[in-house]
Amino acid sequence: MPITINPLTDCFGAEILGVDITKSVDDETFEQIREAFNKYSVLVFHDQDLNDEQQIAFSRRFGPLESTMKNDFTGGGGLINNLSNVDEKNEMISPEDKRMYHLSANMLWHSDSSFKKIPAKASLLSAREVPPEGGETEYASTRAAYDALPDEKKAMLEGLVAVHSLAYSRSLISPDLMDEAFKNEVPPVKQILVRTIPETGEKALFIGSHASHIVGWPIEEGRALLKELLEWATQPQFVYRHKWRPKDLVMWDNRRCLHRGRPWDTSKYRRVMHRTTIAGDGSTV
Ligand SMILES: [Fe+2]
Repeated sequence: MPITINPLTDCFGAEILGVDITKSVDDETFEQIREAFNKYSVLVFHDQDLNDEQQIAFSRRFGPLESTMKNDFTGGGGLINNLSNVDEKNEMISPEDKRMYHLSANMLWHSDSSFKKIPAKASLLSAREVPPEGGETEYASTRAAYDALPDEKKAMLEGLVAVHSLAYSRSLISPDLMDEAFKNEVPPVKQILVRTIPETGEKALFIGSHASHIVGWPIEEGRALLKELLEWATQPQFVYRHKWRPKDLVMWDNRRCLHRGRPWDTSKYRRVMHRTTIAGDGSTV
């Protein structure tokens, strides 16, 4: 069955209508979704009343899934990141709880798992419960942002390598969020600054909060460049803001966009989001 694709901005993002992911999606429909993903980087599906099993099964059709980190309370080594202010007893977590500080790191622009040697290809986030106000997710196309750079800048960036580190990005929230075991699970890694997307040949900036500095550059100079590129890439013309409805599923390409969560009143409203993550194909350097 042909799907309907409604573009969301001038440069990326599309809403996909006419698919029920809770039922088995036939191969022909799936190929249309895969093509739309390659073209638009961010896909929005509405009214998908998914459970974890269904979400995992659909996600796996794009490739092997990444496991969550053992030391991360949202995952504990399984396939689902439970990004929620609700605990296992179904009670709201206090805004003062350390877990909420970890969650607040999602409000910095980032690419999921860019701190892993093999960074994630894509993420799928299923909205199980959403607050009536706030809690949006914003996406920025680092592909469109790269395209719009002047040629001299593109030439200057070619071949540069950045160090990405979860310990670095968490330290921006609070210096003692991660214990030694957690830091040892995810040591700093090198990532190319300009990525080429194999499926399309496009180039994209690979930046975000986990990017700490540039290899071979003085730390502060590297940070200044990363900050400049982040400010460039997150200008309004490259950004789509998603206002969640319950049962939305949003899928995004971590190689071609950044994202960040927006605040909501965590003392008042529940927000329950489950994420699956599609593993990358290999190292970027
Ligand atoms: Fe994320």
